[in-house]
Amino acid sequence: MKALGYTQKGAISEPSSVVEFETDQPTPGAGDLLVEVLGVSVNPVDVKVRANRRPPGDAPRILGFDAAGIVRQTGAAVKGFKPGDAVFYAGEFTRPGSNAAFQVVDERLVGRKPNSLGFAEAAALPLTSITAWEILFDCFRVAEGGGAGDAVLIIGGAGGVGSILIQLAKQLTGLTVIATASRDDTRAWVTKMGADHVIDHHKPLDAQVADLGLHPRYVASLNQTGRHFAAIVELIQPRGHISLIDDPQGIDITAIKLKALTLSWEFMFARSMFQTDDMQAQGDLLGRVSALVDEGRLVTTANRHLGPLTGDSLRAALTEQDSGAAIGKIVLDGLGNAAG
Ligand SMILES: NC(=O)c1ccc[n+]([C@@H]2O[C@H](COP(=O)([O-])OP(=O)(O)OC[C@H]3O[C@@H](n4cnc5c(N)ncnc54)[C@H](OP(=O)(O)O)[C@@H]3O)[C@@H](O)[C@H]2O)c1
Repeated sequence: MKALGYTQKGAISEPSSVVEFETDQPTPGAGDLLVEVLGVSVNPVDVKVRANRRPPGDAPRILGFDAAGIVRQTGAAVKGFKPGDAVFYAGEFTRPGSNAAFQVVDERLVGRKPNSLGFAEAAALPLTSITAWEILFDCFRVAEGGGAGDAVLIIGGAGGVGSILIQLAKQLTGLTVIATASRDDTRAWVTKMGADHVIDHHKPLDAQVADLGLHPRYVASLNQTGRHFAAIVELIQPRGHISLIDDPQGIDITAIKLKALTLSWEFMFARSMFQTDDMQAQGDLLGRVSALVDEGRLVTTANRHLGPLTGDSLRAALTEQDSGAAIGKIVLDGLGNAAG
């Protein structure tokens, strides 16, 4: 089958960061689905892994986490899916990814693709929806339908995670949503996603939140947490909760003591990386997201469609993702479209 991988760690501009090659089609294990990949999206993790991790062994490592496609074969123990089902998922950190014509994935991590979306538009959603859902319901522990009277500040609102977190908070909770965005385009985007208030992350966050007359109980710090941490501690309520997902340098956690804050670190690959007993929660939540899309309550966060997946289009998508200025998600048709 066709696949795209990388052979040496380094910047996206390096020739070795995206190489096209042929490899054997994978065989599903007992609990796996073999999926023909028909849509993918890119994430910051695709860039970070290429930059920092040498591929193990001699073969190129296939990356790509978000995918949508059609189940072509199921492992002997698979219960929830059958060949022909349309699915979407974010896969696992440690297995070959979706930048290939076919991929195997644990059925517990998979949801049914929304019927109302094409494959590329659906592939925008899994990784960021899992992250946003786990922040809202596992970290903050807001109850579905709860949160009225409280506010959440979402820093980095127009990024992939922010775009779906705003929607989930507005659709499934009563929280007031303050999102940050610094440009006209990103301000318009977070408003379209449903934010009640928009402030600028390049200006002091604490003063802007105070001007709104709000006192957030929750802060989802999705980007540049190190830069924003002091302001977050200043603006959040005592006994509030900060959840972060990026890799900040040198934050001082003693700063959270006086307000008795909770700090959590969401990592959406943790469940699959450690094969936790509740891995099925990710497949289940993707099923909920899919139903909410088909009910018209959530919209895809796909904002740029770069056409069929090729070495050149993947490099272009990763370069755009690496700019730090992405709005929503960058999606492509999967290599499965070119299979055979
Ligand atoms: N732990 C996990 O499970 C997990 C999961 C997903 C992502 N992540 C990580 O989370 C981070 C965000 O991911 P993403 O996919 O949402 O990123 P993204 O799509 O690349 O985010 C782009 C957005 O970042 C905003 N931004 C730029 N400078 C900022 C600043 N100083 N403060 C706040 N926002 C700023 C931009 O808004 P403006 O253009 O308006 O400035 C832009 O819309 C990445 O580091 C990613 O690796 C972690």
